[in-house]
Amino acid sequence: MNGIGDQFQQQTKYLPDKMPKHRLVWEAKPSLYKEYPQAARIDLPSFEPSAVMSLDETLRRRKSIRDFRDKPLSKGQLSYLLWASTGIQRQQDGYAFRTAPSAGALYPIESYVIANNVKDLQAGLYHYSIQAHQLEALASQDFRHEIAQAALGQTMRTAAPAVFIWSAVFERCKWKYGQRAYRYIYLDAGHIAENLALAAVSLSLGTCEIGALFDDQVNAILGVDGVEESVICMAVVGVPL
Ligand SMILES: Cc1cc2nc3c(=O)[nH]c(=O)nc-3n(C[C@H](O)[C@H](O)[C@H](O)COP(=O)(O)O)c2cc1C
Repeated sequence: MNGIGDQFQQQTKYLPDKMPKHRLVWEAKPSLYKEYPQAARIDLPSFEPSAVMSLDETLRRRKSIRDFRDKPLSKGQLSYLLWASTGIQRQQDGYAFRTAPSAGALYPIESYVIANNVKDLQAGLYHYSIQAHQLEALASQDFRHEIAQAALGQTMRTAAPAVFIWSAVFERCKWKYGQRAYRYIYLDAGHIAENLALAAVSLSLGTCEIGALFDDQVNAILGVDGVEESVICMAVVGVPL
């Protein structure tokens, strides 16, 4: 019981007589949004699901889908899935709150999408600009081979029409919670992933979360350093076979 994970679990416990004495430096609060000012921006259409599926049915139907039909996602579906997983859902008390909860409303998770087969969208890597509800185009190329390699060779899955990749900007959460932030970051990513899974089912689409990945290979695809920002997990999305 002395591995790094065991130590982490013990050393990040809150204990009544040993609470961290951490003063918040408001001037140093990291921005909650990552933007790519040089990137071309692509509008995401507004999209309303044509038939509303009850939450009960969505929960009963959700399962991991690993094989997909050779059918594109529409831009509207992608738009809805991005919004449903982590989009802005309400303005309240001067803050923009999102569809998934986040510890301290610090929102450390960034969303990227590899589009392999999305109608009217060039194949490539995109970043989701949450505030603008737009895509920022980062690289136009076929990433199927690279992302499959980075996902331990899960070739079928990563050839899905879209691959969502979630990274964390650690300082956003560490600013308030120190090392305990890592617990919250993983939980935040899990909420987002489940939002995506349920939203996809409600559109008769399927997803499979992917945690088996070579972190730094995915980081290299995203162009992030793996220290300040690193991949946490991914999910593939498509029309089930
Ligand atoms: C954090 C996490 C990581 C996962 N990683 C993978 C993965 O790399 N490859 C895969 O095929 N499935 C992966 N899965 C899917 C699980 O295998 C799946 O959820 C589990 O078998 C339960 O089946 P169900 O989702 O159909 O209910 C992952 C699921 C989670 C939550």
